[in-house]
Amino acid sequence: MAELALREYLWVGIGVLLIVAWAVQQLFFTIRYPSNLPRIGGEPRFSLRTRWRFHTDARGLFKEVYDNYSKKGKTVLVPGYGFHDDIILPASALRWLQRQPERLAWKDIDLTPTIRMIVAQAATRFTLGGSPTGRKLCYDKGYLKACLDISDALVISAGLSGASPKLLRPILGRLGSISAKRQIRGLEKYFEPVYRERIRMLEEGVAESDAKMPEDHLQMMLRFGLSERRDEALSLHDMTKRLCIANFGSMHQTSIQIVNMLLNIIDSDEEFDTVSVLREEVAQIVGDNKASGWTKARVAAMTRADSVARETLRLHSFTSRGVVRKVVSDGVVTEDGIALPKGSSVSFIAYWLQTDGDVFENPFKFDPFRFSRAREAEMDEQGKPGLANMSFVSTGTQNLAFSHGKHACPGRFLVDFELKMVIAYVLMNYDIEFLPEYNGKRPENRWLADAYFPPKDVKIRVRRKERAG
Ligand code: HEM
Ligand SMILES: *[C@@H]1O[C@H](CO)[C@@H](O)[C@H](O)[C@H]1NC(C)=O
Ligand SMILES: *[C@@H]1O[C@H](CO)[C@@H](O)[C@H](O)[C@H]1NC(C)=O
Repeated sequence: MAELALREYLWVGIGVLLIVAWAVQQLFFTIRYPSNLPRIGGEPRFSLRTRWRFHTDARGLFKEVYDNYSKKGKTVLVPGYGFHDDIILPASALRWLQRQPERLAWKDIDLTPTIRMIVAQAATRFTLGGSPTGRKLCYDKGYLKACLDISDALVISAGLSGASPKLLRPILGRLGSISAKRQIRGLEKYFEPVYRERIRMLEEGVAESDAKMPEDHLQMMLRFGLSERRDEALSLHDMTKRLCIANFGSMHQTSIQIVNMLLNIIDSDEEFDTVSVLREEVAQIVGDNKASGWTKARVAAMTRADSVARETLRLHSFTSRGVVRKVVSDGVVTEDGIALPKGSSVSFIAYWLQTDGDVFENPFKFDPFRFSRAREAEMDEQGKPGLANMSFVSTGTQNLAFSHGKHACPGRFLVDFELKMVIAYVLMNYDIEFLPEYNGKRPENRWLADAYFPPKDVKIRVRRKERAG
């Protein structure tokens, strides 16, 4: 008797468990299909026969589904494995579906690290991407990250030795560069295959006109080195160090400039419609964004993007001083009669020259088209904007971020391309906006002594843009 009761309890228990499991499944795991989604056969639920048919005659079933629904542009629910159901889309929805992942929700991205990787990649393409071996490094995250880390280490090392008294410099400078030195050694293993390949090509005298001879910064450096400083050019270690200096030039300030520029574009969009104006210019000048669209003439014609870039450097240059020079001999006397001592350093305060209220209306306002308005007002008959002295690459007392004169940054012509390509690519492929907590205002940059840094940990939101057509 007791035995029987126990067995009954067991069955009841199992029964209750199954009911609970079924209820949970129904409540939480069952997909509720909308009422306007037809099921094949038109029944409110699939008969066992229909389900069975999927497992035994999917080919025939699908033929009917195809003829009755897909070909007619209708979406339909069909049985799937076991008791699962699947929605079948009509063939005509293929293009619509392809666009879907691109319409995913907004995604928050950490702006600085993202831009740094992009810039490192673009800069590497310029520096040593002229051969297949070099081009591989453009996609090697380990290499790119190592280059960026070394650039950071160089800033710390330079800051530490620069700030220390001359007497202590040999000690503090050395301490400050321990990490950079170790990392540069680490970079050698990435660099070695490209370096050896390039030296071999130059030493074995591949003709300059040979199509296989890469044309990039590294090749120029090595060609010059082999003729002027052979020992150095033939040392992997020395050339790795030179590569790091080149990387510093091409990666560090460019990333900062792009971060500032994107923040300024979003910040000014409400008032100036910056994004649409730039999109229009890109569409008009480089068309559908093919690589072949990027000629020097076209880049120069992007007056509005140019203005956005120049206005960004005007307000948000990383360095607040320009034309920093060291006095290397006695006897230099300034116009106001000051004899400059040998070893002293002179410079100009670029930040205040670039924000002087006597020269610039509303000097602290980011006015994206400040320069293009002036230039378009001076257009010639062919529609070419005037005032080339107000272009991004043109330096002078009102544009000192690249310094001025004989040693002005030669990289600015490359930066000019990079910035406009970033504007074109980002704005043509993405919508961008601030996080809601910024309240529509870009977070302020930070001063660190005389350097002006983009806001720490700044984020933006991006969403893939739906392409027209
Ligand atoms: C927005 C980005 C950049 C800014 C703001 C910038 C700024 C500067 C400044 C202020 C100087 C010092 C010039 C002087 O002392 O007169 C300089 C020098 C230099 N920059 Fe740039 N730079 C940028 C990007 C680049 C890039 C991308 C490259 C290389 C691909 C580069 C290569 C160089 C070189 C080689 C020098 C030394 C020129 C010389 O001493 O004659 N720079 N840059
Ligand atoms: C498709 O249409 C035919 C003809 O109306 C019908 O007999 C058949 O059951 C339909 N099949 C499905 C899967 O809807
Ligand atoms: C550019 O040139 C114009 C006319 O030649 C002059 O009025 C203007 O001040 C110059 N601007 C700069 C930034 O040099």
